Formats: sequence, C-alpha cells, structure tokens
Amino acid sequence: MSRRIAVTGAASGIGQALARQLTEAGDTVIGIDLKDADICADLGAATGRASAVEGVLEQCGGVLDALVLCAGINAPSPALISVNYFGVTALAEGLRPALAAARAPRAAVVGSISGTQPVDDEVVAACLAGDEAAALARAEAVMGEGPQKLYPSSKAALAQWLRRTCVAPGWADAGIPLNAVAPGVVRTPMSAALFADERMKAVMDRAVPMPLGGYAGPEVIAASLAWLISPANTHMTGQVLYVDGGAEVSLRGSSVF
Ligand code: NAI
Repeated sequence: MSRRIAVTGAASGIGQALARQLTEAGDTVIGIDLKDADICADLGAATGRASAVEGVLEQCGGVLDALVLCAGINAPSPALISVNYFGVTALAEGLRPALAAARAPRAAVVGSISGTQPVDDEVVAACLAGDEAAALARAEAVMGEGPQKLYPSSKAALAQWLRRTCVAPGWADAGIPLNAVAPGVVRTPMSAALFADERMKAVMDRAVPMPLGGYAGPEVIAASLAWLISPANTHMTGQVLYVDGGAEVSLRGSSVF
C-alpha cells in the first residue's frame, strides 16, 4: 500500500536518504526544504511554516499517513532555535489533523545526542512555552557567553516537547505514535566541516564516543526513522531512540534508562 509521507530536510543528508528509502519502498514522499523539494519553504520563519503546512495539505488531500521532521541546522546563531525547535513543532502541530485522518498515522522527529549535553534552561523553557520571541532574545544573550549551548538547547527542548505532546489529547488517543531518533555523528553535509579539521574532529570524538561502528551514514538514521513510521510501530511513543554507536551509554552510564 502506498502511503503519503511528508519529509522535511528532504534535499540533503538524513532527510534525503529517508525520502529515497521510502520512495523505493513504494511510498509517495512530499519533500519540504529550502530548495530542490516538492515544497520550498523556510521553516525558520512563521510564514514559511504556514506555507509548508498549506502545501502539504494540498498535496496529500488532507490525509497524511506519516510525517518526518528532519530539517535542522547547526550554525552558531540564534536562528537554529527557530529551525530546530519551532520549525519542527509548528509543522507537527499544523499537520496533526491530517495525520489523525489517516488509517495508521505515524510521526517522527530528529533529535541529537547533543540534547544530553549542557543546555541553557531559559532557552529551553521559552521554547516549551511556545514563546519564540523570548527564546530568540535569550539565545542572543547566550551568544555573548558562547553559542555552544544553543544547539543542545534546541534538541533538549524538542525531546521534552515530544514527551509532553505524545500523550496529549489528539496524539496517542488519535492513534498517532510520535517518536524521535537521536543520532550521534552522521556523515552528511552538516558535519562535513568537522571532518575537514583534525583538531575539531578530535574534540568531537571525545564529546561523542561511538565504539559501535563509528560515524553513521545517513541511510542508517533513515532506516531507524523508517521503522518508527512503519505500520509495525503500533505501541512505541514518546521515545528518543539513540542511534549513536553507543555514545549516549558511554556518556551517561548504566543508571539512565
Ligand atoms: P543536512 O544539512 O545534510 O540536511 C539538513 C536539511 O535541512 C538541508 O537540506 C537543509 O536545506 C534543510 N534546512 C535547513 N534549514 C532549513 C529551513 N530553515 N527550512 C527548510 N529546510 C531547512 O543535515 P543532516 O545531517 O541531514 O541533518 C538532519 C537532522 O539531523 C538535523 O535536524 C540535525 O540537527 C540532525 N542531526 C545531525 C547530525 C549529524 O552529525 N549530521 C547529528 C545529530 C543530529
């Protein structure tokens, strides 16, 4: 049975690998990205998010079988809060009714091992309050202290949103599992600059140890996402699945489960 599946970030990396796998399996993918996609929209802006939702609803006829939110950035800028958190949650919330109209709907987002690193609590709180202006204002202030907490903050907020939302009215009770895959280091254009710099690569290897298999290819993360949105996933929701070569366990130990 061919399903209609919307994928953000479909023009590169993990989203592109997932779009390819789903298409090869016979599904119809509605790709969303800044360019080179079925729907071109800037998910960092409210207008872009609204036009992406509208475009998907038009292309799926109001019934969406699955949604996978991969688009993200890791740049030293407050803008990453808008893309990685609000660009994900706004699309999930905007497309939830179309998912609820499907027979076996599924949704998944892409988190990160970085979500386990130190965060700025005020940025996270503003995200969870749905206050983008406050989140951006705090992110600007944090920039002065160094931007390294921003990306982890965006991904930690996303994981917390996921756990609150998955059992909120309209999700689990409407039959929609909502989960995340949190990768370690993945070989995509996003991480290419790290691999080009031996010093940065050494820092990254210490921060994200991956004893099982080393760095992953985007197709590995895509396959995990494909399972989360498959009909086989009838009962898992609200989970952050670390597909990270053992990084999360190496860093957090055996008492976290
Ligand atoms: P990528 O850079 O290859 O792909 C990201 C895609 O998102 C690009 O096609 C880009 O155009 C799109 N995008 C960025 N900003 C956008 C915007 N404002 N509006 C619409 N589309 C936008 O990166 P990759 O690695 O495939 O990243 C996918 C997800 O995986 C991201 O959420 C990232 O944070 C996450 N991730 C990546 C890791 C890595 O090592 N590559 C590790 C952990 C998480």
